[in-house]
Amino acid sequence: MEHIDEREIRATLSQFASGMVIVTGCLEGEPAGFAAQSFASLSLNPPLVILCPAKINKSWPKLRESGNFCVNILGADQQAVCDLFAQTGTDKFAELSWQPGETGSPVLADVLAYIDCELAEEHDAGDHSIAIGRVRDLGVFDQERDPLLFFRGAYGSFAER
Ligand SMILES: Cc1cc2nc3c(=O)[nH]c(=O)nc-3n(C[C@H](O)[C@H](O)[C@H](O)COP(=O)(O)O)c2cc1C
Repeated sequence: MEHIDEREIRATLSQFASGMVIVTGCLEGEPAGFAAQSFASLSLNPPLVILCPAKINKSWPKLRESGNFCVNILGADQQAVCDLFAQTGTDKFAELSWQPGETGSPVLADVLAYIDCELAEEHDAGDHSIAIGRVRDLGVFDQERDPLLFFRGAYGSFAER
C-alpha cells in the first residue's frame, strides 16, 4: 500500500480503545497540561512510561523544559476535565483543584491515579515525539470508580464481563 489516506488511518486506529490521561507540568510556577490517549507502561525495572506529544502541542515544550511531567488517569465521570485539557490557549487550571507532586508537576484532585515522572528521553517520530518518563512517584486515589475510555471517536467506560 503506497499511500495511506489520513481518514483511513484514523478510522482504523480508532478501533483500539484506550484510557485518557491529563499530562501536566509546571514551568516557572505556571502549570500547563493537555489531554492524551498515547500513554503506556514501558518498563517495570527501571519503572518507565511512554507518552507521545504532538508537535503542535503548546504545553509540551514547557513540560520538556521543566524536565518533568505527571500523568493523571481520568475517571469515567471526568469527561469535562478531558474536554478542558483537549483545548488550547485557555486557562485550564483556573477552576481545578490540584497540588504539586514530587517533581513539582500538578497532581489533579479526583483522578483515579497519578504517575509523576522525570523526562528521561525524547525521540522524534513524525508529527509527534516519543517521550520516556522515569517514574519518581505514583499513587492510586480510587480503586472503585471506572476509567474514562476513548473508542471509535467517542468516550465511554469499562464493563467487566
Ligand atoms: C481523545 C484525545 C486524545 C488525544 N491524545 C493526544 C496525545 O496522545 N498526544 C497529544 O499531544 N495530544 C493529544 N490530544 C490533543 C491535545 O489534548 C490537544 O491538542 C490540546 O489542545 C493540547 O493543548 P495545548 O496545545 O494547550 O498543549 C488528544 C485529544 C483527544 C481529544
